[in-house]
Amino acid sequence: KKLLLVDLDCGVDDAQAMMMALAAPNVQILGITCTHGNTTVENVCKNVFRVLNVCQCTEIPVFRGASKSLLEGQLNASQYHGKDGLGDVPDPNAPGLEHIQAEHAVTAMIRIATEYAGQVSLVAIGPLTNVALAFKMDPTFPSKLKHLYIMGGNTESRGNVTMCSEFNFAADPEAAYIVLNHFACPTYIATWEYCLRHALPWEFFKEWVNQCTGKACFMKKITAHSEKFSKAKQDNKEMYFGPGFVSCDSFAMAAAIDESVVTEYIRHGVSVELQGSVTRGMMIVDTLNLLQKENQAFIMKECDLVKIKKLMMSALK
Ligand code: BDR
Ligand code: CA
Repeated sequence: KKLLLVDLDCGVDDAQAMMMALAAPNVQILGITCTHGNTTVENVCKNVFRVLNVCQCTEIPVFRGASKSLLEGQLNASQYHGKDGLGDVPDPNAPGLEHIQAEHAVTAMIRIATEYAGQVSLVAIGPLTNVALAFKMDPTFPSKLKHLYIMGGNTESRGNVTMCSEFNFAADPEAAYIVLNHFACPTYIATWEYCLRHALPWEFFKEWVNQCTGKACFMKKITAHSEKFSKAKQDNKEMYFGPGFVSCDSFAMAAAIDESVVTEYIRHGVSVELQGSVTRGMMIVDTLNLLQKENQAFIMKECDLVKIKKLMMSALK
């Protein structure tokens, strides 16, 4: 089985990615580490338990991590994900935090990577604060990972928070900088433009959430808010998300579950702009190889949407 650690800021697409991995027969999740991001880290932990509950996978350990970025405070994406991160739908059966592990997310990440050195891959689909802290706390951590999958950054200086930066990088630019400059295993990045380019038709979304299962009912409820938000933007021709339905984090997770879903990569040194008054948080792609980096990232370019749709459909069965 593929062994995974998942670091997330459980909003709607993190939940979608998680459910995809939980349903994949070839995957075992060793731990879920929570970070601030789409909502507070408290809400993120609660949302993870809600998803694990729906999927009957409550045995997976969940760890609380950073509540703020390295230098600044915390962004949130409540406009899209809802204030609670999962579409603000009442859930009287929502589990509390009784089962949260006492260990901090960062030490848990390091411990698990040490125990499964060379065997465990990390899927990071939120701001990279926990991951950067693990890199700093244990410099051997990056090389203990088998693969690193990141959802974040951009290739065409297109942003979704600021003009030039994607949410996960904008939420903690220094953390993204640390990770992009110090990774030591094959690293795969699903950028904002990659996700946008592979938006799925709304007809697929409808079919997906209307499968008559408990998981699909849950998905339909938690996505209603973001569906409305995206469609309103698209009707206004703002094209913030789409045209179509975009589940960013699912693209990074799909690559971790089945490497054959990504059919083309570009390979370059990468970094993050920290100083720019307009470009802070933007991903730098060193196409000229001026940085002469030994470790180059695999930036996802093309994918097999048929396979991704299949993984998504199975996630809600
Ligand atoms: C990323 O930001 C978050 O809102 C999503 O969960 C995803 O990880 C997309 O920019
Ligand atoms: Ca996320």
